[in-house]
Amino acid sequence: MSNMDARMMAAQEELLHAIDAATVHLTKPCPPDPDRATVLADLDERLADVRGRAGVYPAIGSGRGRGALVELADGSVKWDMIIGIGVHGFGHGDLDLTRVALEAALQDTVMQGNLQCNAEAIEFAEALRAAARRGGADMDHCYPACSGAMANENALKVCMQARNGAGRVLAFRDNFIGRTVTLSHIGDSEGHREGVPRSIEVDYLPYWDAADPDGSTAEAVAALEAALERAPDEHACFVMELVQGEGGFAAAPASFFQPLLERARAAGVPIWFDEIQTFGRTDRMFRFEGLGLGPMADVVTVGKMAQGCAAMWRASLNPRPGLLSGTFLGSTAAMAVGRRVIERLASGDAYGEDGRHARLFRQFSERCEAMVAAIPDCFPDVVGGRGPIPKWGGTGGMMRLTPFGGDRSRIGALVQRLFRDGVIAFLCGHGPVHLRLLPPVGVIEPADLDAVLDIIQAAIAAEGEEG
Ligand SMILES: Cc1ncc(COP(=O)(O)O)c(C=O)c1O
Repeated sequence: MSNMDARMMAAQEELLHAIDAATVHLTKPCPPDPDRATVLADLDERLADVRGRAGVYPAIGSGRGRGALVELADGSVKWDMIIGIGVHGFGHGDLDLTRVALEAALQDTVMQGNLQCNAEAIEFAEALRAAARRGGADMDHCYPACSGAMANENALKVCMQARNGAGRVLAFRDNFIGRTVTLSHIGDSEGHREGVPRSIEVDYLPYWDAADPDGSTAEAVAALEAALERAPDEHACFVMELVQGEGGFAAAPASFFQPLLERARAAGVPIWFDEIQTFGRTDRMFRFEGLGLGPMADVVTVGKMAQGCAAMWRASLNPRPGLLSGTFLGSTAAMAVGRRVIERLASGDAYGEDGRHARLFRQFSERCEAMVAAIPDCFPDVVGGRGPIPKWGGTGGMMRLTPFGGDRSRIGALVQRLFRDGVIAFLCGHGPVHLRLLPPVGVIEPADLDAVLDIIQAAIAAEGEEG
C-alpha cells in the first residue's frame, strides 16, 4: 500500500514527465555524438582498470533509453537485444516501472534484509509464490536473494539438508547455474572453474537432441538409472534449466523431461527447476508451466527479469533455523519493481499460443527461414552431437541464430560488427556457438524486431564476404 502524500505524488508525476521528455528523441539507432565521443572510451578504460578486465564491447549506458533502444555514454543509440543478459524485459525507461522505483526510492531504506525488512520484500516473495502456484507448482515458501547464484546456493542447501547431507547432484551436460565455488562445479563449463577446487560431485546426463529425440531421451534415462544405481540416496537434487541458456538456447519438450522426472521422483530426489533465465520470457511465465511440469517441481529459482532473485520450495523441504540468512534480501526498488513486473506479465497479453512472446518468436523464425534462403553460403550445416541441428531456435523471447556453422571466432566477430552497426547481441553455446538474442519482450514491437533482423542479415552477409 502506498505511503505517498499528495505533494510526493505531484512531484513524482512531474519527474515522470521530465524523464519522458528527456528520451522522446530516442526513436532509432544513431552514431555517437561527436561532443561526447571520448566519454565512452574513457569509461571503458576505467571499467577495465577498476575491474581488472575489459568488457566484451563498450556497452556502457548514459542512463537514458526508450523501449528497445538504449543510449550509450557517447550519445550513440543501439537496439538492445541482450538487456543486461535478460534482465530489462520491459526495456529502457519504462515510465510505469520508473514510477514504482521512484516511490520505492522515497522509502526510508535503500536495502532490505533478513533481520529487518519492509513490506516490499514480503510482497515480492508473495507475488512470486502466487505466480508459481498459478503455473501449477506447489510452492509453499519463497526466499529472496540478491543474485541468481545466491538464490541457487540457498536452494542447494535446502535440498542437501532435506536429503540428510547428500553430497551429489544430478544435472544436464552443458548446464549453467551460477558462479559460486560450488555452482561453478555443477555448471558444465571447464572455463568457469579453472583453478577452483572441486567442492561437489555431479552426475551429468545428456540433454535432448533435436537430431534424435527418442535416442537422446533414452540415453538420458539410461544415464539417470546408472547414476541412481551407482550412488543410491546420495543425490541432494536433480537441477535443470528447462531451456538451456548459456548452454545454447536449447529448448526440450515435455516428453524428454517427463520420464526423467518420474524416475528421479520415485528415487526420492528433489526436482529443482532453475528458471533464472527462462522466468517471464517464454510462452508462459514459467517454462514448467508451458510444459505442464509444474506438479513435478520441489524447488524453483528465479532471477533476471524478476528484477530480484529468489528460491522457492515445498513445505516438506523447509530447512531448520540457521541454514539460510544473510544481510540482504534485495533493494527496496528492485523488489517493488519486481512485483510490478510480475503483475504486468500476468495481466498483459504476453502468454499463450498466440501471446506476444509466441508471436515474436514466430516472426523471428519466419525471418530466419527467409534469411537462410537469401544468404545460404553463410549458413552451412550446424553439426551437433547426433547430426545437424536447426539453424535457428529457442522459444519465446529466447532466440538463437547460428550462421557460419556455429564457429566461435566468426560469431564473436559478428557480435562485434553488430555492435558497431547498432545492435547489442551476445553469444551462447559451448560449440556450436550461436548468436544469442534476449530482446525486451515486454516492449519490443514487430517493426522493431524487423529492423533488428535487417541489420543482423546485412551484418551476416558482410561478415560472410569478408571472413
Ligand atoms: C539458468 C541460470 N542460473 C543461474 C544464473 C546465475 O544468476 P546470476 O548471474 O544472477 O548469479 C544464471 C545467469 O545467467 C542463469 O542463466
